[in-house]
Amino acid sequence: MSKRIDVEHLKVYYGDFLAVDDITMQIEPRAVTAFIGPSGCGKSTFLRTLNRMHEVIPGAYVEGKVNLDGENLYAKGVDPVRVRSQVGMVFQRPNPFPTMSIRDNVLAGVKLNSRRIARSDADELVESSLRSANLWNEVKDRLDKPGSGLSGGQQQRLCIARSIAVRPDVILMDEPCSALDPISTLAVEDLINELKAEYTVVIVTHNMQQAARVSDKTAFFNIAGTGKPGRLIEYAPTQEIFNKPQEKATEDYVSGRFG
Ligand SMILES: Nc1ncnc2c1ncn2[C@@H]1O[C@H](COP(=O)(O)OP(=O)(O)O)[C@@H](O)[C@H]1O
Ligand SMILES: [Mg+2]
Repeated sequence: MSKRIDVEHLKVYYGDFLAVDDITMQIEPRAVTAFIGPSGCGKSTFLRTLNRMHEVIPGAYVEGKVNLDGENLYAKGVDPVRVRSQVGMVFQRPNPFPTMSIRDNVLAGVKLNSRRIARSDADELVESSLRSANLWNEVKDRLDKPGSGLSGGQQQRLCIARSIAVRPDVILMDEPCSALDPISTLAVEDLINELKAEYTVVIVTHNMQQAARVSDKTAFFNIAGTGKPGRLIEYAPTQEIFNKPQEKATEDYVSGRFG
């Protein structure tokens, strides 16, 4: 649980288009790392390379390495399906399976990985995952009701429970609060703060207060212009990125003077 990610000279392509250029960075275990930067600078693209989701797009590929506790996820013979169970992903819009019960939603990822589990083990896993996602008390009396009956914020915590149930080492989140109201956002932020005790958490956010509130380290990405690749400009403890950044571009962005 909670592994270090070591990215070495990663270039990310969509066909001929170089979307993200030459990223080298280390992402710490038991910490929250935030990716910030203007729209289109490649935050989502880069995030998806960390669990090999990028390559499901036709023509998309990477060069370079992503090491998870020293094991290169892109080495020959590595099964991307196994990678995706080690490195879970939570998306912008909560995406529970709408007709599936809350209980089955939690177990969906586990079943996808074709692990068969006994009923009592499943009950335990459902409870522990929902507890870890700070959702148990709100749903324990309606586990057999459809996931779509929950509020947006509850649905997002259900999706987090679903990724926790697989027992990943890393949880990636791409703007997990951008579709949520402020109260639900705070609930998810509290949860993110708790998750880092056990997981490596990486979160993309366009909300700088959120990055400041939840993350230990922040990576600022930028693009020189349309059609140009995104690059990592500065990566440091969050306090430093917001209070005394080394690069002018970072300062302009975090102070809202971007453009
Ligand atoms: N499926 C795709 N096919 C081709 N280009 C894409 C695709 N998804 C994103 N891009 C391009 O990659 C660049 C980075 O996009 P993205 O990773 O979505 O940025 P961000 O998440 O920082 O807003 C953009 O130029 C975008 O148009
Ligand atoms: Mg994005």
